[in-house]
Amino acid sequence: MALVPLQVEQLSYRWPNGRAALNHCSLEIPRPGLWMLVGTNGSGKSTLLRLLAGLLEPSAGRIQCAGKVALVFQNPDHQLLLPSCGSDLQLSLPAGLSPSERRQRLADVLELVGLTGLEERPIHALSGGQKQRLAIAGALASGAGLLLLDEPTALLDPLSQDEILALMTRLTHRPQQPLTALWITHRLEELDACDGAALMEQGQVRRWEAGPSLRQRLEPAAGALPGGGAKR
Ligand SMILES: Nc1ncnc2c1ncn2[C@@H]1O[C@H](COP(=O)(O)OP(=O)(O)OP(=O)(O)O)[C@@H](O)[C@H]1O
Ligand SMILES: [Mg+2]
Repeated sequence: MALVPLQVEQLSYRWPNGRAALNHCSLEIPRPGLWMLVGTNGSGKSTLLRLLAGLLEPSAGRIQCAGKVALVFQNPDHQLLLPSCGSDLQLSLPAGLSPSERRQRLADVLELVGLTGLEERPIHALSGGQKQRLAIAGALASGAGLLLLDEPTALLDPLSQDEILALMTRLTHRPQQPLTALWITHRLEELDACDGAALMEQGQVRRWEAGPSLRQRLEPAAGALPGGGAKR
């Protein structure tokens, strides 16, 4: 049987204070593409991504990923560490590449995210949208095949939000080596762009469904859901 990009079986996680965040959570991403999760505040979305990225150790259950995994945070300032675009990307490159391979890989990923030629640009001189694209470039530089994006557009202006969504749509549908992305959002309009969407509730992911139909189902209720609803 071909390996699917991600398979999660019966995953549970309890914080040290005893609070259960994931509760026998199962989920399968059947093929590359842009897959989205929505859910009320505290339903366990960020905890799930942290478990998938290996930042937390599950209390029970199994995670199987076909390739390398990279996490993209809501706030790129929390993950860009070095002063220039090029130096920051260097940190993400896998070991064992020659200097010329490293240079080439950096140029390639910058081009893929629309930041060609910005190796020397100080990070503080980038816009919020450019910083988020650089964070995505870092994930690509690492060789990850599965990108986990935790509300990647929440802090961006509308134009940059659209750019990030278009970029991830492109990267997850390119003919060669399409990526798999698991994207958490509270912005229900983003669901229209995905290959499948699922609702997360009380530490469990429900079944995949078409993004627009999940959007339609949630929209009238959004204001009424606890924790501010599925939309902020
Ligand atoms: N560091 C922590 N220590 C203890 N409990 C935590 C911690 N982080 C999150 N939790 C709890 O775990 C549960 C799941 O939180 P999580 O952050 O995964 O939710 P979320 O779906 O990402 O919410 P949001 O939409 O607000 O980002 C919540 O009950 C939350 O209070
Ligand atoms: Mg969260």
